[in-house]
Amino acid sequence: MAPSPGPAEQSPKMWLNPKLYRTRLFLDVVRIFIFPTVVLFQACHYARVRLGLLSVPAHVLAIVLWGLTRNIIYDVKQAQEARRLGAKPVARIKGKWPGNVDILLRMMKAFKTAYLMDVYLELFQEYKCTTLNTRILWVDQIITMDEEHMKYVHATGFNNFWRGRRQKERMEEFLGDGIFNRDGEKWKMHRVTARPFFARERISDFQLFDKHSSLTLNLLSRITASGKPCDAQDLYARFTLDTASEFLFGNNLDTLSLSLPEPGKAKMGPKGSATNDEFGSFAQAFEMAQCVITQRARLGYFWPVSELKKNRIKEAGQITKKWLDPIVRRAIDEKAKAKRAGIEAPISERTFLEHLAQSTEDVGLIRDELLSILLASRDTTACLLTFVTYFMAIYPEVGKRMREEVLQTHGLDQEPTYESLRGLKYMRAVLNETLRLFPPVPLNVRESRPAPVVLPVSHHPTYTASSSPYPNAPFVPTPTEPLYMPGATPVMYMPMLMQRNPDLWGPDADIFDPERFLDPARTARLAANPMMFTPFSAGPRICLGQNFAYNEVSFFLVRLLQQFDTFTLASEFQPEGSQPPTHWKTKQGRQAIERCWPAAALTLYVKGGLWIRFGKAQN
Ligand code: HEM
Ligand SMILES: *[C@@H]1O[C@H](CO)[C@@H](O)[C@H](O)[C@H]1NC(C)=O
Repeated sequence: MAPSPGPAEQSPKMWLNPKLYRTRLFLDVVRIFIFPTVVLFQACHYARVRLGLLSVPAHVLAIVLWGLTRNIIYDVKQAQEARRLGAKPVARIKGKWPGNVDILLRMMKAFKTAYLMDVYLELFQEYKCTTLNTRILWVDQIITMDEEHMKYVHATGFNNFWRGRRQKERMEEFLGDGIFNRDGEKWKMHRVTARPFFARERISDFQLFDKHSSLTLNLLSRITASGKPCDAQDLYARFTLDTASEFLFGNNLDTLSLSLPEPGKAKMGPKGSATNDEFGSFAQAFEMAQCVITQRARLGYFWPVSELKKNRIKEAGQITKKWLDPIVRRAIDEKAKAKRAGIEAPISERTFLEHLAQSTEDVGLIRDELLSILLASRDTTACLLTFVTYFMAIYPEVGKRMREEVLQTHGLDQEPTYESLRGLKYMRAVLNETLRLFPPVPLNVRESRPAPVVLPVSHHPTYTASSSPYPNAPFVPTPTEPLYMPGATPVMYMPMLMQRNPDLWGPDADIFDPERFLDPARTARLAANPMMFTPFSAGPRICLGQNFAYNEVSFFLVRLLQQFDTFTLASEFQPEGSQPPTHWKTKQGRQAIERCWPAAALTLYVKGGLWIRFGKAQN
């Protein structure tokens, strides 16, 4: 399917550089507040009316009436359009306060104490549907956990969506021209350039995995020898960052050599536990930027209000640029030198940076692309490793069975190969089951292009309300009519809720059970509806690094399980404020049984880190 550069690229609202968020806010303020007051002022002037003391209330009234009128006109137009398209508008949330301010406050509160995305799940349950319009501050925002609607956004209706104006505005300063922040031709160019690099020969070059796995496990052995627990999440973040930096730009960031968070002393960092020294300024800026982008997304359309004085991402952007730009320049110089000397390395020997330098000399473009792929590859992979370790810790029989499989196929020290990893059926099922319950990208956003779209009718073919005795089922009735979605409107989709939906996965949807990926009766359901398991997304923008990720994670786990055989939660070392709140125990779903605090900042992570005692095997 060839995505065309849809009409939005020429949309009149697009002239504004997405970096200029203050200007955008100013224009909105003019639109909402200034216009009616100026009109009133002029009207009084011509009519020679003096408002005197009534001036302030009159202006407030003018603003309100203006807003109401605009809303009514907008609603009428939407209803007409929906009828014309033969669809029903997506159900709107009806809060108690005007502008659904109470819903906004409920969400803000939930981000602090509730289980990840439970506030959305509750809303879907309340409204008995899988797609809603939040209408916070009268702004349309679609949220969905419906697999058919996600399929439409990603695949069948791909051309009607893009990453969109608002997302660009939030990320521009950090990801700029990178693959994650572009649509249309520019995105396609990135995709075409990056693709050969993920060919089988490249991703099965395991030397890199071996080097960094060994370094990580040596470090881990030293820690366990002194009887200490370790923040597994932090360790994996270093492992994946060092691996990715060497893979991408041939420059090992070597964060494994910097000082690690100390058990019992570590405080909460922006995501996991904080280290006392700087975890490399690059790594920290990289994480900080992700947190700011997430914060902006949570605040919604009017986030620029909170950053009028200070652009909170600028500094992080500068740090990463300062670090990456010289590396990029060097690669471009080297390419020129090699060209003059008449030598050219084959793609199999190039780093991703060298590969990019072949196609352009635009330092900014290459840097933005590197940063995007670093973001894509590093946090996601670390997240998967973290949650696999979590499950091995809370379900020791899972770790045991994985280890048996590893020892049977690889013995105690045989190095994994591309082929040998294929044989690890149980491990693959564990990875899939972990990706189902904790997809590293648990929610994400797209925007409809300026033309309105029709979301197709859902079919939940698997479990029905009556067959599901589960307390949080059913979400049915699923929509039986196509839904109308306005143009230029964001849609936030939630693979995590979809992949835990009992209507799709059965009454035990919240239970960790790798067997569901091995049992033929259950895999048949998945085969009939592949959309219900899409941790790597779907359609033309599906993850490019899926196999790379499975390989890196499996390689590491084989090496880990050859040496270690027990994994125990060391919850007493969780930094203050990162223990799961006690009120979760009384609530629905996984939160009643969760023993860590899952949170999300673009990608999923464990609040305060995942403190684990790794037990060395006495082979
Ligand atoms: C467990 C690990 C991973 C998961 C769960 C994952 C998941 C995803 C998801 C959900 C997307 C779609 C994002 C969106 O469209 O907004 C994506 C895109 C992408 N991923 Fe991954 N990913 C993983 C690992 C990797 C790795 C290791 C690499 C590279 C080495 C990578 C490279 C990419 C790239 C380049 C894209 C952008 C594709 C595009 O926009 O056309 N990913 N990934
Ligand atoms: C894991 O999921 C992937 C993607 O859906 C699938 O291709 C693979 O067969 C699954 N493997 C196992 C063992 O479940």
